[in-house]
Amino acid sequence: MAPRISPANADPTAAARSTTAPGPRRRLHDLPGPPGIPVFGNLLQLKRGSAHQTLEQWARQYGAPFRFRAGSRTFLVVTNHEVTAGILRERPDTFRRSSRLARVMEEAGLEPGVFIASGEAWKRQRRMVMAAFDPAHVKAYFPSLMEVASRLRRRWLSAAAQDQAIDLLADLTRYTVDGVAGLAFGAKVNTIDGREDVIQRHLDHIFPALFRRTMAPFSYWHYVKLGPDRHLPGHVQAIKEAVRGFIADARARMVADPQLSEHPTNLLEAMLAAAQREDGAVADSDIAGNVFTMLQAGEDTTANTLAWLIWLLKRNPAALARCISETEDVAADLSSLGTERLAQLPYLDACINEAMRLKPVAPYFINEAMHDTVVGDVEIEARTVVWSINRFDSVNEKYFVNAGAFEPERWLAGGLHGNDSAKRVVMPFGGGPRICPGRYLALLEIKLAMVMLLANFEIVDVWTPDGKEPREFLTIVMAPVGLRMRLRVKE
Ligand code: HEM
Repeated sequence: MAPRISPANADPTAAARSTTAPGPRRRLHDLPGPPGIPVFGNLLQLKRGSAHQTLEQWARQYGAPFRFRAGSRTFLVVTNHEVTAGILRERPDTFRRSSRLARVMEEAGLEPGVFIASGEAWKRQRRMVMAAFDPAHVKAYFPSLMEVASRLRRRWLSAAAQDQAIDLLADLTRYTVDGVAGLAFGAKVNTIDGREDVIQRHLDHIFPALFRRTMAPFSYWHYVKLGPDRHLPGHVQAIKEAVRGFIADARARMVADPQLSEHPTNLLEAMLAAAQREDGAVADSDIAGNVFTMLQAGEDTTANTLAWLIWLLKRNPAALARCISETEDVAADLSSLGTERLAQLPYLDACINEAMRLKPVAPYFINEAMHDTVVGDVEIEARTVVWSINRFDSVNEKYFVNAGAFEPERWLAGGLHGNDSAKRVVMPFGGGPRICPGRYLALLEIKLAMVMLLANFEIVDVWTPDGKEPREFLTIVMAPVGLRMRLRVKE
């Protein structure tokens, strides 16, 4: 019988079981949803950058679950966090990531990494990737992250000395590009000091082209090649050659120093060591696909989360003051900073959780049914794509008092809403077997950047050019538009 996903009741353990809503079932086409137009359906209503807000608005207007149409395809949209948790849990057997994304990448000639893979290939790759994120290894990566954080500090010292406005997201992206690229390739990448990163230049062309194709109503590039489509093969080829070179270099290092298999200093070495243990079951193409995946999954996510966090803290002075006081003694001796000390900053942790509740960089998840199944009380056919709106229950008064406000205290033990119930509703890193494997590394990078910022600088201002709240712009992740920051060096 097909597995079923349903909203669980008030029983907190219910979310851990797969059950179905008792009572009659509905079919996808019976659901309410926005009226569309012939051929396109609702596609033209989903504007570039704000699709998530349109979906959130439809959920409020039509109630959830609801359906919408794009071209010939009809999608199911759910908002209930328990239904979402059920879908995430039912992978890899009942749900997978969108097969369209997999096809688009494959067609472009990119090897599928763990983010795209499904079935047995995903299981094999996930084991290898998880080994690379082993906490002991992540600890060994720390010195290279520290070096990148020091570089960002120098850049901001110079901006502060000249009383210059900082393009916040651009600088944070340099920080995460250098951090993750260094870890993924084992190569020193330095975009913070303005040195061009060739890899990044190619990626900056590849990601938007892939995104455009994934969202297109039909495979237009089979018939007409727009500018980005014409250049895509060249960029893909360049990246593949570079990655092959990085793999060969890492292999050579590991042959010269066999200790690196036990104590890898970056993700690539760790993946190669894990692949060796899989006895030939992991191909070079799997490793190459995952180097690419780390860059794709690890840069914008962390940079944008940091940007939202800094903006939210600046407009909540009490929370900022508490963060500064918590990080004060860490700040006093930055040279002895390590992963253990960063793990002991509960208030900063709470602020990060609260920023990800209000401004999740992945405000929805997209999963595709692998066979006929039931979601809540809705029967869906194989290949139906389900959108789970992540930021719906997490900003709902039913689950959070004063839900729209930035109140980090709610994440602390004894807060109005105990930590555990909040964590079940808010899922910034997804959930189930495909939960983000980079989450601890991401939190480490975020805390490191925050400690560096708060220890060295007073945040004079964080603003947007029009003086309004930053607009949310969603392409691959949800970014704040136009944030600027001014810093003063602490006495
Ligand atoms: C604040 C930063 C980050 C956020 C909010 C984030 C969020 C997410 C989310 C929502 C997913 C989908 C999970 C699911 O389907 O259940 C995901 C998957 C993934 N993330 Fe992250 N991520 C972050 C940082 C990172 C970093 C730093 C890395 C690696 C360097 C990374 C690597 C991955 C990978 C490889 C997957 C695919 C896992 C799989 O399909 O098995 N992420 N992330």
